[in-house]
Amino acid sequence: MNKDIILLRTVEVAAIASYKYIGMKDKNMVDQAAVEAFEVMLRNERGFKLKVVNGEGELDNAPMLYVNQFLGDLNDPEVPTFDVSVDPIEGTNPAAYNFAGSISTISISRENTMLQMPEMYMEKFFVKDKYSNLINLSEGIINNVLRLQEFENRKDLRCIILDKPRHNKIIQELSKLGVVTRLIQDGDVLAAIDVVNGEADFVYGIGGAPEGCLMASLALASGCKMQSRLINYNQIWPNEKETESRMEKENAWMSKHNIDTSSILSDYDLVSDERTRFFAAGLTAGGSLKPIKYKKGKFFVNGFMASHGIVRNFSSIYDVNKVNNLKPDIKYLFDKYKR
Ligand code: FBP
Repeated sequence: MNKDIILLRTVEVAAIASYKYIGMKDKNMVDQAAVEAFEVMLRNERGFKLKVVNGEGELDNAPMLYVNQFLGDLNDPEVPTFDVSVDPIEGTNPAAYNFAGSISTISISRENTMLQMPEMYMEKFFVKDKYSNLINLSEGIINNVLRLQEFENRKDLRCIILDKPRHNKIIQELSKLGVVTRLIQDGDVLAAIDVVNGEADFVYGIGGAPEGCLMASLALASGCKMQSRLINYNQIWPNEKETESRMEKENAWMSKHNIDTSSILSDYDLVSDERTRFFAAGLTAGGSLKPIKYKKGKFFVNGFMASHGIVRNFSSIYDVNKVNNLKPDIKYLFDKYKR
C-alpha cells in the first residue's frame, strides 16, 4: 500500500488509541498508547523502512520509537529507507488535561537528510508561504515583524505564541505593534499547521528543538518557511539542579555539529530534502484541526498531510466494527485502548 496512506492512518490510529486517556491527568499513559500504536501499525508494512532520527529518546530511556530504531520492512535489504522525526503525542499535557493542543505527528525524508536534534530549546520563527523570502531571524523578531507589516501595509498580523513566562516581554511588544496574538499553552507544531491552513500568519517563540525538525519538514513540504536558533538551557532555567549537566550535553552536541547559539538554521539545515512529507492527526487538537470525537461505534478524526507544496486536510471516519473485521492490527489497538 502507498506509504502516505500508511503513515496517515498510523497517526490517526495513534491519536484514537490515546483518546482513552484524555483528561486522566497522566501524560505517560497518553504517550504510551500512541507509541504502541506506531509500533503495531508499522511492524507489518512492506516496501519501505523507517529510521527514527528524532523520537522518544535514546534506547536506554525509551524502549520504543528510540533514536536509530528501524521500523517497517526489516527483512528486505532492497527497500528504500527514510529518516523519520516522530512525536507520537505532541502536547502530552493538553491531552492529559483535555485542553486544546495535542496531535500525533510524523515526518519523513530521504535517508541521511534529517538532523538528529538535541534535547534542547530552540527559538523558532515559522511563517506562511507568502513571507518565505522576507524573513531573517538574525535581525531579531521585531525587525522581521515590522518588515512583514510594511509588506502587508497593515499592522494586525496574526501570531501564535506559547504562553510561557519567557515570552511575556515579547508578547507585550508584539501587541504594542498591533499584532494579534493567540496564546497557546503547548503544541507549537499544531500552531505551525494552523499557519499552513491560513489560521495565522506566523508562529514565533522558544520551544523544543526536536519539534523543530517536524516543523522544518512541514515548512518545506507546504511551501512555508522556518528559521530557528538553538537556545541553551540556562537561558530558560538558570538555577535548576540539572542546568549544568544539560549545558554540557548541549555544548558537546553543538561543537560536534559546528553550530552555536548564534547560528541561524533554516528549515533546509534541519531537513535537507525538499520532498520531505509531514503527517498529523488531531487528538485534543484545536485551531484548524478538530478534536477526536467518538459516536455510536465510530471515531471521527481530522488528519493532515503536506508534501511537494500540496496541503491536504482530511475528515476520517473509522467504523470500529468494519475496521475490526478487516484489520487485525487495528482491532488489537481498538480493543486494548477501548474507552
Ligand atoms: P510534549 O510533546 O513533550 O508534551 O511538548 C509540548 C510542547 O508544548 C511543545 O509543543 C513545545 O515546543 C515545548 O513543549 C515547550 O517546552 P516547555 O514546556 O519546556 O516550555
